[in-house]
Amino acid sequence: MTRRLRIGVLASGGGSNLQAIIDRCRDGSIAAEIAVVIANNPDAGALERARCGAIPARCINHRDYPGREAFDAALVAALREAGVELVVLAGFMRIITRVMLDAFPQRIINIHPALLPAFPGLHVQQQALDYGARFSGCTVHFVDGGVDTGPIIIQAVVPVLPGDTAETLSARILEQEHRIYPRAVQLIAEGRVQVAGRTVMIDPPAVPELGYLTNPSLDG
Ligand code: GRF
Repeated sequence: MTRRLRIGVLASGGGSNLQAIIDRCRDGSIAAEIAVVIANNPDAGALERARCGAIPARCINHRDYPGREAFDAALVAALREAGVELVVLAGFMRIITRVMLDAFPQRIINIHPALLPAFPGLHVQQQALDYGARFSGCTVHFVDGGVDTGPIIIQAVVPVLPGDTAETLSARILEQEHRIYPRAVQLIAEGRVQVAGRTVMIDPPAVPELGYLTNPSLDG
């Protein structure tokens, strides 16, 4: 039996990205197992999804700690206790500190609902609309000390359509998140991901089919 990478998922909300990863681990497309799901908020839907999937789930409430470092130290202890090798942030709404980064160097990944480096931070679908961007999308990246700044592993492009609201655009981006996040975990689990400076190399490369999008379209 092939060795399965032990992953720990940190979430704050509904956990639809967690679910996508649970499903792909279950169907065997990812050689990984979710060792633990941790939420910083007791009401996080992600905890319920983990329990339904018989995955160890815990709440570590940031409000119970005097500061970010102390909270992160508790996260690190729980992740280590579960034997986690890769930390997957899935809608985790806390800024992580050096305590986490030093404990899991280049072993923390995040998903962001925009085509980075455009629109880091919060409310990014609305930012894309306000800016008049023709394309948005989503990005899986390694986490470094900045806000949404780490080396990029995989991105998907999502066109902005006439009449889009933050809700409709977010829903279309989320569909793509559910495709690319499990894929990023799969590539890491297969040992195919190397980081050199800002560049992430995939070996073998998995080159996409070349199809160039324009928005609006060139005809019609
Ligand atoms: C996603 O849009 C993700 O990109 C962002 O937070 C949202 C989490 O959604 N970081 P879910 O909890 O995975 O459904």
